[in-house]
Amino acid sequence: MRFMGQVKNILKTKGSGIYSISPYMFVYDALDLMLQKNVGALLVTENDKLLGVFTERDYVRKVRLQGKDSSKTLIMEIMTTELFPVSSETAIETCMQTMTNHYIRHLPVIDGNELVGIISLGDVVKFIIDEQKFIIENLEHYITGT
Ligand SMILES: NC(=O)c1ccc[n+]([C@@H]2O[C@H](COP(=O)([O-])OP(=O)(O)OC[C@H]3O[C@@H](n4cnc5c(N)ncnc54)[C@H](O)[C@@H]3O)[C@@H](O)[C@H]2O)c1
Repeated sequence: MRFMGQVKNILKTKGSGIYSISPYMFVYDALDLMLQKNVGALLVTENDKLLGVFTERDYVRKVRLQGKDSSKTLIMEIMTTELFPVSSETAIETCMQTMTNHYIRHLPVIDGNELVGIISLGDVVKFIIDEQKFIIENLEHYITGT
């Protein structure tokens, strides 16, 4: 089954707000921000330039299991710098493929040179479930003539 829709459809629902941090922030403070905002990733920016992403997975693998002290480790030391940005015109299906192929759960959204949002695997799954529900309801109405 092919999925319709573009990244902008997700941003319209979830909003284009972005939680971002400086590369000079300590990991502990970033974790605290993640907790407050209830997100699993923070974009790392400096002077409006996107440098990387810090995720729960980065913390587990590069701090906790390495025995590092999160209150003494800087985000720049452990952030992921290989990014897979999409634009607001990118198809949701392409996003799903990118996330699956690269084992990642968050994609920054960049239009031109401007960072305009972030989408997660949960956003993509929710979009697809809502879309399938909509299609099924329409088919039911068509079949039953209601
Ligand atoms: N009901 C919903 O609308 C909805 C949407 C997305 C995720 N979820 C649920 O949340 C849980 C975790 O989701 P996840 O693994 O996709 O990742 P997540 O916890 O990182 O993302 C949760 C939400 O926060 C947003 N988000 C994440 N990082 C952000 C940032 N730095 N700036 C701004 N927004 C940010 C995501 O786009 C998503 O909407 C799952 O249980 C999932 O099912 C629910």
